[in-house]
Amino acid sequence: MSSNSAVDSNSDPPKSPFWGEPDALTLREGFWLPTFLLDSSSAFRHNFQARDGDVLLASPIKTGTTWLMAISHSLLTKPKSSDADALATNNPHSLVPTVEFELWSPTTNVNIFDPTSPRLLHTHLPLSLLPASVSKIVYIARSPEDTLVSMWHYFNTVAGEVALEKAVECFCSGAHPFGPFDRHVAEYWQESQRRPEKVLFVKYEEMKREPKRGVLRIAEFLGRPVGSEEEVEEILWRCSLERLKNLEVNAAEHSAYFRKGEVRDGKNYLTSEMGDRIHRSVGVKLQELGLFF
Ligand code: A3P
Repeated sequence: MSSNSAVDSNSDPPKSPFWGEPDALTLREGFWLPTFLLDSSSAFRHNFQARDGDVLLASPIKTGTTWLMAISHSLLTKPKSSDADALATNNPHSLVPTVEFELWSPTTNVNIFDPTSPRLLHTHLPLSLLPASVSKIVYIARSPEDTLVSMWHYFNTVAGEVALEKAVECFCSGAHPFGPFDRHVAEYWQESQRRPEKVLFVKYEEMKREPKRGVLRIAEFLGRPVGSEEEVEEILWRCSLERLKNLEVNAAEHSAYFRKGEVRDGKNYLTSEMGDRIHRSVGVKLQELGLFF
């Protein structure tokens, strides 16, 4: 397997620090990608050939990826009993590989070029950097304020503490992994409007407000309709934050994925000036599209 990274690189692309790490991000076609993922992102884009039945989950960071992974995996595998529930003993990220991270990992069992299908994969890459053959995508997004505050907590846990003011500045500049946020969301939103059979656009807030309806929408899109109300409730329980965060498998190294899972939690941290700034930087474009504001 060889990388076609040359196809994507220009000679001296702009770099940006992130969370105190110099040159952590590199600008590619208008998006800030983690520099260490440039080669794997290119290899995925240029070498991956999707087949019928493949499903790609997609998301910016901290918008409900883990929840979407759990729900989609449950819908596609339909475990018969709690014993057969893979989520009981596996973190959702271990069941659904994030392609740009897993492709080159020496420890993973995943081989995305393996011809056995169907496959359930995940990416944080923007739509415009995906392989052309991908034809079934479930995308999850969330309000910019809650995404930013979730991101701030997450990176403060895994990468050292940064002041909220700095995190706001970074989010508003777009120089964060897979940013800018508004462009990432807008690309998938517009494609979901143009080609609803290709992209299902899911909002974290709607999933929280009407979880049963959310699961039914995803099930229908995946071609795995759910038979009964009890089945939907069972899936929601299996995938609930309360259950997953208390499982032994998620208690230690994976605990940063599970926090509060509340809508409008951003308001508890951000000043009104910060809120205004976020609105001016990323909110206006989303509002024009009828999203989140
Ligand atoms: P908060 O930080 O606001 O609590 P991602 O999975 O994309 O990294 O997103 C993380 C956010 O989703 C966190 O939000 C986390 O608490 C929340 N989350 C994780 N698992 C969840 C679940 N099973 N149900 C609902 N929300 C969940």
